[in-house]
Amino acid sequence: MKQLYEGKAKIVYEGAPNEVIIRFKDDATAGNGAKKASIAGKGVLNNRITTLLFSYLAKHGIQTHLLEQIDERDIRCQKTQVIPLEVIVRNIAAGSMVRRYGAKRGMVFAQPIVEYSYKNDALGDPLLNNDHIVALGLATREELEYIRGQALRINDLLISRFAKIGMTLVDFKLEFGKNAEGTLLLVDELSPDNCRLWDESQTSYDKDRFREDSGDLIAGYETIYERLKETV
Ligand code: TMP
Repeated sequence: MKQLYEGKAKIVYEGAPNEVIIRFKDDATAGNGAKKASIAGKGVLNNRITTLLFSYLAKHGIQTHLLEQIDERDIRCQKTQVIPLEVIVRNIAAGSMVRRYGAKRGMVFAQPIVEYSYKNDALGDPLLNNDHIVALGLATREELEYIRGQALRINDLLISRFAKIGMTLVDFKLEFGKNAEGTLLLVDELSPDNCRLWDESQTSYDKDRFREDSGDLIAGYETIYERLKETV
């Protein structure tokens, strides 16, 4: 297969016309690549969790790039032009909400926060507001309106899905891309690599275990996958 792109956690290969194959790697990075490791089994778990969650969202009317899971490592997806935005939704203060603004970890927001970062490693993924995004030509106001609406709908759907497995969705990151017809789709992945999940005692089951050396990452991801698999 011809490789089109290699990211920190996934490799994108050329597929059938207007399609790509995405392979989940075991590599883990944090702090924009400052901390790196290979964690055996992470890619397989993220592939399974992404497939499960994207299928759940699709069942509830969210258009995603996922076509099918091919095997333990690979998924088949629609090819898109990815919008270089990290769309982050926050329900509870953690991570950069604590670091950047001094919010108390665990503070519950009255309404979810949607924020955007420029997906650009060389610039350190700086925060963007709507005016920046339009001025830089990254998306139109109409597209941003749509993306925000989708992000909030996805948040509602995921909050209730994770509540069923005893987990609180603290925050998460989404990406969107445009397919050949110009339709905006949810792309990338949805896994404990790009969301924060806490149990009732605020223990993390996500990549914070790696970022903060606070526990066994695979055990956390396995718990999420096993519980998701056993519920609908
Ligand atoms: P943050 O608190 O570090 O800004 O992260 C917010 C959420 O977004 C958290 O669930 C982790 C996720 N995220 C990514 O998936 N990729 C990134 O590059 C960043 C900065 C955050």
